[in-house]
Amino acid sequence: MTAARAAADILHRASGRRPRVGIVLGSGLGGIADRIAGSVAIPYTEIAGFPVPSVAGHAGRLVVGTLGGVEVACMQGRVHAYEGNGFDALKTAIRALKLAGCDTLVLTAAAGSLRTDVGPGRLMAISDHLNLLGANPLTGPNDEAFGDRFPSMTDAWDPQLRALLRDVAGTLGLDLAEGVYAAYPGPSFETPAEVRMMQRLGADAVGMSTVPECIVARHCGLRVAGCAVITNLGVGLGDGPVDHHQTLSAASAAASDLERLLVGFLERLHEKDGSRS
Ligand code: HPA
Repeated sequence: MTAARAAADILHRASGRRPRVGIVLGSGLGGIADRIAGSVAIPYTEIAGFPVPSVAGHAGRLVVGTLGGVEVACMQGRVHAYEGNGFDALKTAIRALKLAGCDTLVLTAAAGSLRTDVGPGRLMAISDHLNLLGANPLTGPNDEAFGDRFPSMTDAWDPQLRALLRDVAGTLGLDLAEGVYAAYPGPSFETPAEVRMMQRLGADAVGMSTVPECIVARHCGLRVAGCAVITNLGVGLGDGPVDHHQTLSAASAAASDLERLLVGFLERLHEKDGSRS
């Protein structure tokens, strides 16, 4: 089983570090991994079955170490449906994090806002999702070792973890929005008509990732929290066209807020663990 081999590769290279929280960093947000203390960076090419990202802004390494007092395994780079290589590597990566000891997964992503009151630079906690990819990563034979054939997506985005994000944001004075993330297949950006469609369907933000990872994580019993970094208004809602360069630069600008939120969140998780023991 590839995920088991991948977990063994991670634990071997992590030399005694035992990650509890997995983190996936989206486009332009990879710098957050530099804040991880006592870290070891493992190139994806050295982990069985891990994805090799092909997109600018995605480094392709797993950084294992301590952030906010919690042992984390941070994916600096992810795969997207539009890369066309299916979901096997994504499944392997998420399941390997679970097998390596994680019980929680934090997903981050750059996204376009579908709400004009939530502009570029804002953070948005993900409360739910719309899978508009036309594909599901769990299609195919079910691996019962990981989860049920028909996993529930009720509360896919953990309400308690989201409350914690809200709380931490309040303490830090960060203006955290909350909303539904729609996964759009890409790689072309949406048309203005598609943006209007997604607004009507109840989405608040749109991006090209995140949802497959959430589905695979929930299937294998990981708790999931997510935060989108709004890099632009959706096509047709703002002034000009949207491009990847803008995504990367706006994401980097907001990365320090996301970093503060993430570190505060992990510190609170750490306190909770302390009070449990
Ligand atoms: N659409 C899709 N994905 C995105 C966007 C967008 O407007 N911004 C950042 N990622």
